[in-house]
Amino acid sequence: MTGGLEIRQSKVEPRPLMPDIPSDLLPHHVAIAPDGNGRWAEQRGLPRNAGHRQGGRALQDVIGGAVEIGITFLSLHAFSTENWRRPASEVEDLMAVYADYLSENKSRLRDLGVRIRWLGSSERMPGHLVREIESAQEITQGNDGLTFTLCINYGGRDEILHAVNRVAEDARSGALPDVSMDEAIFTRYLNRFALPDVDLFIRSGGEMRTSNFFLWQMAFSEMNFTAKPWPDMTREDLWEAVAQYASRERRMGGIGRRGLKESGSARPTGDG
Ligand code: IPE
Ligand code: MG
Repeated sequence: MTGGLEIRQSKVEPRPLMPDIPSDLLPHHVAIAPDGNGRWAEQRGLPRNAGHRQGGRALQDVIGGAVEIGITFLSLHAFSTENWRRPASEVEDLMAVYADYLSENKSRLRDLGVRIRWLGSSERMPGHLVREIESAQEITQGNDGLTFTLCINYGGRDEILHAVNRVAEDARSGALPDVSMDEAIFTRYLNRFALPDVDLFIRSGGEMRTSNFFLWQMAFSEMNFTAKPWPDMTREDLWEAVAQYASRERRMGGIGRRGLKESGSARPTGDG
C-alpha cells in the first residue's frame, strides 16, 4: 500500500471471443425454452417477477449473440398454453414483461436486422400485448437477418390440432384435393410462417424435458440442457451450445460420416 488513492485492478473477466464456426455447421434454427426465472429470483429473496424481468435482459443478450454468430432462426417458448395455470398476477406480470421487452427493444432489434414474429393462439391474449407484437412485427417486417419468433400462448399439441382442423375443413370444402396426406403437405398446414425444423433445442434451468414445444419441428433436434437459470444466460452460453452442436454428428437415421468410411461407401446418408 502506498497510501492515498488505491488503484484497484478491475475484477471484470474479459468476455470470451465468439467461436469461429463454419457456416455449414451452424444450426439454422435454434429453439429455446427459458426456464428458472422463478428460482433465480427466489435465491435472491426477490419476487418471481424480478426473475422474469431479468430474463428479458438475458434475452436481449442472447439475441445479440445469435445475430453475431449468424443464426437465421431463433424461437423462444416465452409463454406456453400450460402457463395459464399460473396465478393470474404472474400471468399478467409475464405478459407485461414481453410487452415492455418489445416496446423497449424493437427499434434496436430492427437496427440489428432482426425480423420479429409471434406464434401462438390469439385466444385470451391481452390486447396491449397483441398491439405491441403487431407494432414490432410491422417495423421489422422488411428485415432478412435473424427471424426471431416469440412463441406466446403456444403449445405443440395445440398447433398440431389446429393444423388437423384446417386439413379437415379444406377436405370438406374441397379446397384440399383428394390426396393422401404427407409430411410436406402437413408441414404447410402447420407452419403459418414456413418455420424450418429445429436443429438445436436449448433449455435452461436444469429441467430435461421439452414441455410441449415444437413437437413436430423437433423430431430430429439436438438437445442441449443447462442447469443455468435463464436470467443468467448470456450470448457466450448460446455460442457454447452452438459450438457443441457443431461438434456433434447428426445422423437422422443414417449411419453417419464415420459409418460410411468403415463401410467404404461413398453414398451420402441422411445426416445433416
Ligand atoms: C420461466 O421460468 C418463465 C417462463 C418463460 C414462463 P419459471 O417461471 O418457470 O421459473 P421456475 O421454474 O419457477 O424457476
Ligand atoms: Mg419453470
